[in-house]
This record gives sequence, C-alpha cells and structure tokens, in this order.
Amino acid sequence: MRHLIDFGDMSREEWERLYARASEIIDAPEKFVDVCHGKVSCNLFYEPSTRTNFSFQTAMMRLGGSVFGFADPNSSSVAKGESLKDTVKMVSNYADVVVMRTPWEGSAKAASLYSCVPVVNAGDGGHMHPTQTMADLTTITRLRGGVDGLCLGLCGDLKNGRTVHSLIKAMAKFRDIKFFLISPRELAVPDYMRAFMREHNMWFTEVTGLEAVIPQLDVLYMTRIQKERFVDPLEYERNKGIYVLTRRKLERAKKDMLVMHPLPRVDEIAVDVDDDPRAVYFEQARYGMFARMALLEHLALQPREDRPAPVEIGTKPICRNPRCITQTERYLPPLVKKIGGVDCCGFCDAALQ
Ligand code: NCD
Repeated sequence: MRHLIDFGDMSREEWERLYARASEIIDAPEKFVDVCHGKVSCNLFYEPSTRTNFSFQTAMMRLGGSVFGFADPNSSSVAKGESLKDTVKMVSNYADVVVMRTPWEGSAKAASLYSCVPVVNAGDGGHMHPTQTMADLTTITRLRGGVDGLCLGLCGDLKNGRTVHSLIKAMAKFRDIKFFLISPRELAVPDYMRAFMREHNMWFTEVTGLEAVIPQLDVLYMTRIQKERFVDPLEYERNKGIYVLTRRKLERAKKDMLVMHPLPRVDEIAVDVDDDPRAVYFEQARYGMFARMALLEHLALQPREDRPAPVEIGTKPICRNPRCITQTERYLPPLVKKIGGVDCCGFCDAALQ
C-alpha cells in the first residue's frame, strides 16, 4: 500500500499488519517515540476538523516526527487560485507524507496521481474516510476481540456520511457480517455503496426505525446528519434530530453492544448515554490516534518517488456528480472503474451514465 485513499484498496492482510502494529503501540507507546524521527507530515485541511487533524498531528509527534500544513485553505495559495495538483506537487517537495481533507469527492485519489510521497485521505466530501475506519476497526477489535460475525447497525445520514461508506467497504473483508442500515429514505446509502455490497455478497437490510432493530445489534454506529452537504436546506430541516439514542432506547440493547460514533455529535446521542459502559465513542477517538500512528509509520518511511508516472491530461469531465473533484480540476484524466458490473467514476465512484 503506497497511499491510503479508500479502505477497499487495502487487503485484509495489510489491515491485520497495521492493526497488530497499532496494538503494539497501544501496549507500549514509549517504544515508538523515535520511529519517525526526522520525518515530516503535511496536513492539508480544506474543511473543518477537530479529531482527525489533531489525531494525525499528535500521532506524528508521538512518533518523533513533525507536522506542517493548514487548517484553513484561505491562508495558503489556494486562495490565489492554485490547483490541487500544484499544491500537492509543492507540499510533497517538503513532506514525507501528505494527509488531506477536502469537500470534493475523489480529491485524495486526484492528489495521489501527482504526489511524490504517500497521500492519506482524511475525508473527501461525502465519499470516504478510511482512517476513521481504522479507528473504528481498532476499537471493535480491541473491545470485542474481533470483527467476523458481528451484526452492525449504521444509523443516521448514510447518504452523506463518509465514515459509513468506508466502514462498509472495510467490512467486505470480514466474514458473516450483517448490516442494518438505519436512515430516512432520502438519506439512504448511495447507489454505488448498494452495488458494492451486492457485488461482495454482503448481508444488509435498509430500515427507517432504530428501536425495532436495536436488540439484534452487536455494534450501533450513530452518525450526525451532515448539514454542510445538503444542497436543499429544507431537506436538512426535515431530517435533523430524526434519531436520538437515549438511555431508554438502550435498555433493549444487548449488554455488550458497543455504541460508536465518529464524532462530532450534535444531538443524536443524548448526553446521559455517555456514562453507559457500552458508550465507547471517546475511546474510539483515542484508538484512532494509535491506528494513525501505525499508518504514518508505514507510509512516511517509504522512499520518495521523485517523478511520479506521467498522467494523461483530461479535456472535459466524464463524471456528472457535481461534487466530484473532476468538476473543478479540469485537467484530471477520465478514470473509470467497475462497481457491481457498472462503469463508475474512478475518483468519486458515482455511476457514469
Ligand atoms: C467525521 C467526518 O468528518 O466525516 N468526523 C471525523 O472525522 N471523526 C464525522 C462527521 O463529521 O460527522
């Protein structure tokens, strides 16, 4: 693995090696204080972040490396109109690994075409967020002993929630997983995720109610309604506050069910749930830092590629998804991949019609 763009690109063996390393770090962090000595990470955050940016920063610091970057693109040449390609080519001159979050779907894939050093997708719009999935799998494995055989409920904004998409992709690598996808109809998973689950023979069912399915779950993964992704404010108003996990609802859940959430929470988990031993979302954020340490060690120690392979220059986008990076960065090549037999955009996964 040279970049981490999509969890689907990682084999189960690669994940298990990273998890084993994350576990070693959790058990004896003092042994790792120098493994990235002299290495530098560049964190490009074009969108707000608390956990992801801070945990990547502290992960690198705890490995003995250092970090530069921006948390507000208006403080960089992006504000002068610099392209993503040029920004990435520049910062990959200075850094050993680039961590980026943007509002554009497929942007990390685009950056990886031009970077001399590994690129990590720290969230590309409503598309994917594979390092949150590393945090999630680390949490589940540490606290439940493994992932195979689990029944998971994913609840909330499954259309725009990138953490959910990456988690589903990861679960295709495990055995006997069952998914209850709990969302209002208008916030159900995108078609490309449904095609992915069918292609991988994953068991899933889509429901609108949380309470009826709660007793069956081993993991309940709550998510925020992603206000910033709604084009129609009325659609957001209709759906905000639609799911709220309360202590009363938890009474019907298994005694060892995990309540997870990538955070930030708005109102979808009542504050008094925090003291229930099943609520593990704050630990989950801490496990995320250790998982990112394992990832940064793996990626930042790779040799630079001074001249990445030339990339064909695009003339016009073939993808019609208005949030796809190809809509704004017009030089990108027309990449196509198959999902469930359908031609999809190689950047954002949307079906090409
Ligand atoms: C998530 C994100 O940014 O996608 N947060 C995170 O990285 N932990 C979830 C969210 O914003 O709702």
